[in-house]
Amino acid sequence: MKGIVFTEFLEMVEDKFSTDLADRIIETANPESGGAYTSVGTYDHKELVSMVVALSQETGITVPNLLHNFGRHLFGKFLRSFPSFFEGTADAFELLERVDSHIHIEVRKLYPDAELPKFDTRRIGPNEFEMIYSSSRHFQDLAGGLIDACIDHYSDKISVERVPCEGGFVFTMRKN
Ligand code: HEM
Repeated sequence: MKGIVFTEFLEMVEDKFSTDLADRIIETANPESGGAYTSVGTYDHKELVSMVVALSQETGITVPNLLHNFGRHLFGKFLRSFPSFFEGTADAFELLERVDSHIHIEVRKLYPDAELPKFDTRRIGPNEFEMIYSSSRHFQDLAGGLIDACIDHYSDKISVERVPCEGGFVFTMRKN
């Protein structure tokens, strides 16, 4: 997993909690890499999972909630760092449709060793959209946070329902 995800995670912990807590969760998780992450490096995604578990133990916030909040935080970073990916997109459905077919393809050009999930998308009708997440990393809660932040970014009124399916999770979104 790319270092940008790790550096953003630790930045979120420092902002929302404290630098001390960020240091402590690295100590508890004791990652093989040593925990000095750089945004262009590549690290085992399990190191992120260990740090989230350590943060959960320290804060009492569940792992799914922490990953969801982190997804929201990460969307803000993507928006600031990659504004061109958002140009010309009118709403959340359009942007989410482009994650697999365009955005992550460009991401792979920038970072050839990126470990990206698969998304199958489908328009069910003018007001309904489906996105199926599959990844061996099982970051569906992170995906949920990214999706919610995307909906908020476009100020769309959309409800999201998530159900497990074979190999992943289906996110069904309906415009209210
Ligand atoms: C400009 C927008 C975006 C950029 C630049 C971007 C870029 C990235 C990058 C760099 C990674 C890490 C790859 C690695 O660790 O090797 C990643 C992972 C991921 N992205 Fe995106 N992404 C964007 C939008 C989205 C959106 C809107 C979603 C939500 C549907 C999404 C879902 C994910 C998920 C869930 C992962 C974690 C890896 C996994 O689950 O296997 N991304 N993305």
